[in-house]
Amino acid sequence: MFKKIATIGCALALATLTACGAGDGSAGGSKGAAGDKIVMGFAQVGAESGWRTANTKSVRESAETAGIELKFSDAQQKQENQIKAIRSYIQQKVDVIAFSPVVETGWDAVLLEAKRAKIPVILTDRAIDSTDTSLYKTFLGSDFVEEGRKAGKWLTETANGPVNVAELQGTTGAAPAIDRQKGFKEAIAQKPDIKIVATQSGDFTRAGGKQVMEALLRSHPNINVVYAHNDDMGLGAIEAIKAAGKKPGTDIKIITVDAVKAGMQALADGEINYIVECNPLLGDQLMDLAKKVVKGESVPERVVTEETTFTTEQAKKVLKDRKY
Ligand code: AHR
Repeated sequence: MFKKIATIGCALALATLTACGAGDGSAGGSKGAAGDKIVMGFAQVGAESGWRTANTKSVRESAETAGIELKFSDAQQKQENQIKAIRSYIQQKVDVIAFSPVVETGWDAVLLEAKRAKIPVILTDRAIDSTDTSLYKTFLGSDFVEEGRKAGKWLTETANGPVNVAELQGTTGAAPAIDRQKGFKEAIAQKPDIKIVATQSGDFTRAGGKQVMEALLRSHPNINVVYAHNDDMGLGAIEAIKAAGKKPGTDIKIITVDAVKAGMQALADGEINYIVECNPLLGDQLMDLAKKVVKGESVPERVVTEETTFTTEQAKKVLKDRKY
């Protein structure tokens, strides 16, 4: 079913792109000066994946290094918890709010409250779906559509014969779940031999991936490729595939997104076949942006994280130096 291809890996790098938004002076101009500590309220999605754990660590460590006081909350993947956390940060009059939205929609009301309180907001990791771009200063994170495209492109280049894909989607309504599906579909569109035969959400967790895969193996015994929106769900799928007496990476090829250590180990071991990187180490860039918006300086409207991809051979080479 698969032919080998050579993939060129490129070095992990972070870059800032796109236009510069003007600072509107909505935040105070004196904060961040010597002796005046910036306070950031950070509303995290949860602790659903290895990626998220690495992201939280990066944010905490970078805040400390930057001398920013961090108020941190874990929403346990629930939008209502994130909204509550943001409201509490507004009441506490923090200097800046940063958050990674659990889902794309439903943020306008609470972000308008932050805007009225003159507290600048930074979106990090995930975007929101709103026509009012004045509700936040900048969005720092990956291009999830591109990640989906990379996954689909690898499949079109390696598939040789009929392919029945099981898609393990991330959290329903979350930007990475929507965009990774979009990019993947776009990339396989011209290949009628590649069909997505089932799509189900595993909520970005290992347990979710395992559970969904167990059910899909029963309902669709012809599945020969898994496209999991993150490593954790892919690792859960591996457990289900083994329990069903099949060999992950051989009987059923597996493509995932993230490239956390556990995923890279499975790739090096041949149980995952390809990983599209999504970099969680956003802390330093986030703190730099926070300092600027608090001072009322202009920042780019969009800061895109540049990422690479990994084959088994590449994973073997970089695994020992992997930071997360
Ligand atoms: O928003 C980033 C995604 O969220 C990561 O790919 C996934 O692992 C996490 O849960």
